[in-house]
Amino acid sequence: MKLGCCYYPEHWPESIWAEDARRMRKMGLSLVRIGEFAWSRIEPEPGHYDWDWLDRAIDTLAAAGLKVILGTPTATPPKWLLDSMPDMVAIDENGRPRGFGSRRHYCFSHEGYRAECRRIVTALATRYGNHPAIVIWQTDNEYGCHDTVLSFSVAAAAAFRNWLAARYGAVEALNAAWGNVFWSMEYRAFAEIDPPHLTVTEANPAHWLDYRRFASDQVVSFNREQVDILSALSPGRDITHNFMGFFTEFDHHAVGRDIDVATWDSYPLGFLEQFWFSSEEKHAFLRQGHPDIAAFHHDLYRGCSNGRWGVMEQQPGPVNWARFNPAPLQGMVALWTLEAAAHGAEFTSYFRWRQAPFAQEQMHAGLLRPDSSEAEAAPEVRAAAAALADIGLQAAAKAPVALVFSYEAAWTIGIQPQGQSFRYLELVFEAYSALRARGLDVDIVAPHADLSGYRMVWVPSLPIIPEGLTEKLAGLACPVLLGPRSGSKTVSFGMPEGLAPGALRDIIPLTVTRVESLRDGSGEAGEGWAVTRWREDVASDLAPEMTDASGRGVVFRSGPVRYCAIWPDRAFLRLIVERMAGEAGVHLLDLPAGIRVRRSASHAFTFNYAAEPVFVPHLDKALAPASWHIAPL
Ligand code: GAL
Repeated sequence: MKLGCCYYPEHWPESIWAEDARRMRKMGLSLVRIGEFAWSRIEPEPGHYDWDWLDRAIDTLAAAGLKVILGTPTATPPKWLLDSMPDMVAIDENGRPRGFGSRRHYCFSHEGYRAECRRIVTALATRYGNHPAIVIWQTDNEYGCHDTVLSFSVAAAAAFRNWLAARYGAVEALNAAWGNVFWSMEYRAFAEIDPPHLTVTEANPAHWLDYRRFASDQVVSFNREQVDILSALSPGRDITHNFMGFFTEFDHHAVGRDIDVATWDSYPLGFLEQFWFSSEEKHAFLRQGHPDIAAFHHDLYRGCSNGRWGVMEQQPGPVNWARFNPAPLQGMVALWTLEAAAHGAEFTSYFRWRQAPFAQEQMHAGLLRPDSSEAEAAPEVRAAAAALADIGLQAAAKAPVALVFSYEAAWTIGIQPQGQSFRYLELVFEAYSALRARGLDVDIVAPHADLSGYRMVWVPSLPIIPEGLTEKLAGLACPVLLGPRSGSKTVSFGMPEGLAPGALRDIIPLTVTRVESLRDGSGEAGEGWAVTRWREDVASDLAPEMTDASGRGVVFRSGPVRYCAIWPDRAFLRLIVERMAGEAGVHLLDLPAGIRVRRSASHAFTFNYAAEPVFVPHLDKALAPASWHIAPL
């Protein structure tokens, strides 16, 4: 796995570029990402390009032996561009324009802005497409960051109407699909339809789901326009986009199909602080990050782009954007780097080379401090580089378990949670974590993925069953788990004929007759576990495999297929993992808290995410905090 960093030559005097490049090489870095926010320097005046500085920056980095990842600057259109078409900004759900003065101030549907993006990307790719140092192009930066996928602009509304007309053909078909007879919501023409915001109370969930699908398609087509230009003008180079953590606002599997390498930005401490983790976990993993946060995304994004993936931004120290921004435990930056290698990353690039002493991110650590002295992460990068040199290139092997992940499921449940603690991402993450806690490697796959060859298939929840999936599942001989709400919606957000789980009844004969959501801690007990958050009443001729204390069935099983009718708590997940693994003949480990293992095609890695030394039975020795053990397989 290669190492790299994110560098902003435009932030520093040219006189230090060569020394920076030399120090990068000395630290063990061979890649450098530049350019993704530099539009105002590349084109200071409309139509007047200033390539000289960028030519020299690329040549200086190349002369030191670095390969360059060049970003297209479309996440930061300059002020003059915005002033030339003020309606290019996104409009938020409350109808307010999103102004200039930070970044991502554009609407994916604005045709004028799209034309400007094609122009700047064409100019950049014409200039550098055949430069020998350029090895990867990054499109834009973090689509959707700062809540920017959904826009309610005039341009978005017009594009949505076209999208609907193409999808439904006739407005009567749309009315029928959405159930618009309800509350007299019927339309006489596509031209009458607005985005689903600013309604008096909730808009029709079918309206919202189509708006989310539309908005996701806009991201996909925006990205594809850049990919088409870059691949035509810069043949032989890889194209990537840097995805975010715990982010489901567009279909990453769809964007992934258009790029060569999926990358993501890994900020384990920021994510632990910002997401649903308990305060106990936030304390226990304050400086290490929850042991499954990075791994979950490694496995998710590996499944987004034919297995080729990397980390574009790795947290090197305290960040500036979470509620609290602790420093990593000494050793964690190296450990996170090796965790990426263990999952088969092609590269890990640290964000950023040097901390900026100005503007929004001045409190965000880099590998160097603003005064160019080495920050705490620098020796860790050298340690990671040395460990990587010892083990050589790591390839990911097919995991025994497939965990099915669906962006559409995230939208569907997000639009209609029915209980405020029913969070799709959390449900999937908890399943992942339960599998990883028993030492299992996991591939997180799209619903359309090939499921053959897995020894266990886990579908945490999938309200809308894509065409062909039931048949595919029926063909599997391995244990399959279907989680709550699976098959509970049609493609147009209605209830399926014959009730949930709809088409899945072909593989497990049961009917969900009622659902209820519950406050945490208020459900029935089971044996060592509890019903919490969600429970379904199930009618079936099958005798339940597991029941709660009152005798109600919570797990039903027909051959290798199980249906789980509750939100599974951790103890329950542990039981299910044991049962399925037992049937699949998959070996489980009993890992102490904070310990995780991951096998690449050639090596077994063991990591300690705990803040204290932990004795690891399978190694028969203790691992210090933030340390690892690597053994050839
Ligand atoms: C990412 C972003 C970077 C930088 C970083 C700070 O979300 O892509 O440009 O802002 O966060 O942690």
